[in-house]
Amino acid sequence: PKITYVAPDDSARTLDVPLGTSVMRGAVSNDVDGIVAQCGGNAQCATCHVYVDEETRDKPAAMRANEDEMLDFTACPRRPNSRLSCQLKVTEELDGLIVHLPERQQ
Ligand code: FES
Repeated sequence: PKITYVAPDDSARTLDVPLGTSVMRGAVSNDVDGIVAQCGGNAQCATCHVYVDEETRDKPAAMRANEDEMLDFTACPRRPNSRLSCQLKVTEELDGLIVHLPERQQ
């Protein structure tokens, strides 16, 4: 599935991210700047924060309580479309997803 990562300067990269991995993993394995992922994907650091583009807002599955709690600790302000990219599991439904990277993660 194709995921598009949009940097704060509006430059974008679209990558084919393998099924079963995560939106965070897709960024880290392809050197997309702007995702730190300090905890390695365990919903314990909030440094993999992304804003899901409004047009693709309905693609990701609903968040679980641990993600919701951790989103209160993001470096950039939490918005209604905020997600932890490590908790966005790559499924066919995610194809076409667009995420915006925040200005900073720490
Ligand atoms: Fe730490 Fe996502 S990588 S919360």
